Amino acid sequence: MKNILVGGQFGDEGKGKIISHLALADDPEVIARGGVGPNAGHEVHYKGKRYPMRMLSCGFVNENARLLIGAGVYVNPEVFLKEIELINGKERCGIDFRAGLITPEHIEEDSKSSLSKKIGTTKTGCGPAVADRTRRTAARVMDCPELKPYMTDVVEEVNKAKNVLVEGSQGFMLSLLYGTYPFVTSKDVSASTIAADVGIGPTKIDDVIMVIKSYTTRVGEGPFDGEIKEEEAKSKDMQEYGTVTGRPRRTSPDLHYDELRLAANVNGATQIAITKIDIRFPGNAGVKKYDELTNEAKAFIEKVEKELDVPVTLIGTGPDAEEIIDKRT
Ligand code: IMP
Ligand code: MG
Repeated sequence: MKNILVGGQFGDEGKGKIISHLALADDPEVIARGGVGPNAGHEVHYKGKRYPMRMLSCGFVNENARLLIGAGVYVNPEVFLKEIELINGKERCGIDFRAGLITPEHIEEDSKSSLSKKIGTTKTGCGPAVADRTRRTAARVMDCPELKPYMTDVVEEVNKAKNVLVEGSQGFMLSLLYGTYPFVTSKDVSASTIAADVGIGPTKIDDVIMVIKSYTTRVGEGPFDGEIKEEEAKSKDMQEYGTVTGRPRRTSPDLHYDELRLAANVNGATQIAITKIDIRFPGNAGVKKYDELTNEAKAFIEKVEKELDVPVTLIGTGPDAEEIIDKRT
């Protein structure tokens, strides 16, 4: 089984929570991260503690899984080594030797350039690192001595393993190719690119699980339909703050179905995971069986299935990895 998980909106769909559930429920041997780099913040609440992960996969909650970072990803060595320490993961983490490297110069450029101000980037150096690699002037992970102990051939590892979970980052509407250009991230982040990031070919993928949140948020600049004011978002319990930047996220209380249909198509989604149903529809917190959801929540899930023509298989009902309905058979 080789499955890919991607974000269907503007990032921050709750991928970390779904990944941590799949890591425990499906017991993959290998969990590999694709996507851009430490501009992503995947958050998992596990055993009473909050883990905001930027480089390593939230699948770390399964202590038997090997955690890998693919060649398509851009690595900040400092962030990576800190997270290794946080999860005590020295023995089981690896990075593809071909992966991109983020240098202090990339971070400085991302913090100061007028382009990054216009877009509202995360200032983590990802965009400049991608540009540098595209110019074929960049250093890679193999050039960084501190990362030597972790270097591996991820392509070999993910193709050899039978049960692999691939974690995408960002969200479809931030894709360089399909998102709200130029207010996008520096790469495509759809399932095909995520697969290439870790070195799995399209014929080897079983399922693409697209994660969407029950409402829509966006951090940074760019067009955003149905946006409401911070006060109103707070009153709906929908106001969020960025994991990486701490910036208040912009809120739109409904789903953007046109964008989601495009996302489902390009990603080739075979399953949808919906998170934060308990926030959009109070009365559903911590529910673990579909039948126990309120009628309003069930009607919403059926609407999503009809609009996207993809089954909803996972439903998040709270922040903890265990607060979830898993409808897969
Ligand atoms: P960059 O990826 O840091 O260059 O930022 C480009 C745009 O993508 C900005 O609007 C960021 O806020 C947004 N962005 C990048 N990564 C994420 C993410 O993981 N979650 C949410 N927004 C993101
Ligand atoms: Mg995030």
